[in-house]
Amino acid sequence: MQEILSQHYDWLRALHIISIIAWMAGMLYLPRLFVYHTEAENGSNKSATFKTMEKRLLKVIMNPAMIAAWLFGGLMFWANPALMSEPWMHVKLLGVILMTGLHHAYGKWVKIFAADENVREAKFYRIMNEIPAGIMVVIVIMAVAEPF
Ligand code: HEM
Repeated sequence: MQEILSQHYDWLRALHIISIIAWMAGMLYLPRLFVYHTEAENGSNKSATFKTMEKRLLKVIMNPAMIAAWLFGGLMFWANPALMSEPWMHVKLLGVILMTGLHHAYGKWVKIFAADENVREAKFYRIMNEIPAGIMVVIVIMAVAEPF
């Protein structure tokens, strides 16, 4: 199996990068929807539209993309376990674990908005919008530049 994975390593890397692009698109867009959703009145058509957009973005794009990113990343580790001892990969994986934790927090907030129970202001979600962008920058620099 390791032999087959090594022979198709570039395919795994390509599929990994495709899945992280989809995942990051959702991680950067969903908090933006939360920002505008805080300005929509509970029970309004506008609020109902945001609920649908948030739920579909999470369920149809972000969840499958996150699972695919972990799957193809994991298969690359199987093909090349030595990567696990690289210091840059340790920093990268710390970033990935933070990103995955944030993804789950977003999932909770989708449910809170769906139940009209959001009490947080737009400013909170604007700040939350910046965090995945910062984590993504660190992850990509680690993965591509391998600085240490
Ligand atoms: C979700 C869990 C993840 C795992 C287990 C994982 C694991 C890996 C592994 C093992 C490689 C191959 C490294 C190499 O051969 O040098 C890789 C490459 C890469 N990863 Fe991830 N990764 C994950 C998430 C992410 C995320 C969230 C991003 C970006 C936001 C990312 C960006 C990259 C990039 C850009 C490469 C290609 C590096 C290159 O080809 O030079 N990864 N990843």
